[in-house]
Amino acid sequence: MAKSSQYVSKPLEADGSILWTPEENDVWHALYSRQIGNIQHKACDEYLDGLKILNLRSDGIPHMEELNSVLRERTGWECAAVPALIDFDEFFRLLANRKFPVATFIRRREDFDYLQEPDIFHEIFGHCAMLTHPEFAEFTHRYGQLGYEASKEDRVFLARLYWFTVEFGLIRNTDNELKIYGGGILSSPGETEYAFNSEVPERREFNIVDVLRTPYRIDIMQPIYYCIESIHQLFELSQMDIMQYVKKAKALGLFEPKFPPKEKRLVS
Ligand SMILES: [Fe+2]
Repeated sequence: MAKSSQYVSKPLEADGSILWTPEENDVWHALYSRQIGNIQHKACDEYLDGLKILNLRSDGIPHMEELNSVLRERTGWECAAVPALIDFDEFFRLLANRKFPVATFIRRREDFDYLQEPDIFHEIFGHCAMLTHPEFAEFTHRYGQLGYEASKEDRVFLARLYWFTVEFGLIRNTDNELKIYGGGILSSPGETEYAFNSEVPERREFNIVDVLRTPYRIDIMQPIYYCIESIHQLFELSQMDIMQYVKKAKALGLFEPKFPPKEKRLVS
């Protein structure tokens, strides 16, 4: 969630729908058409399977209720329409209740390539496919529960876990193939190419304490990605005492950033 937004979420109608303008539906179509080809062979199988399950429309912004009926049946999750800005209490409360916050606005054309605040394209195209996967869904749910109960200080550490998994996570499987599962990457053409092919970023093996100690910035291509072996690894993590790792990370302190730290937005 961004600290300030130039966008305002659109209200839900009485039947739960949103009145999108033709221009807003055209922006979705343009974003979808551009990105759907980019992610083939780069996104992980769980994500691509999830897209098929969701059967997202390409010609306009999907109806959330239609998505929700699929998500509820698969994993008990659903999308929740939220304002462009929500606080951490609300963010974690929603996740803890298997509700994924979706700000109901879509970027304007001048922000086509880059937008700091997460819009509905980012939330639905980037995140919802993974929420059809039971193990990923369980990890996200457990994360929400922990975050909701955590102190303000601990939430800052937990935000890094979300950032390097749900938002910017990569998989390096046992065949040494690289795949993307992070929604922040998969909703961005530039970062999809960069995360997958560039030699600039470091791709480190996932280590929970290292992740919790790694500063990040939201306004640059990521200099560091953490690679899990499989989505199952996140499920295993969700069954562990993550707050013990937070304690350890706090004691060890943050790594030296590879850039001037500027953690304005923690999670979305
Ligand atoms: Fe996100």
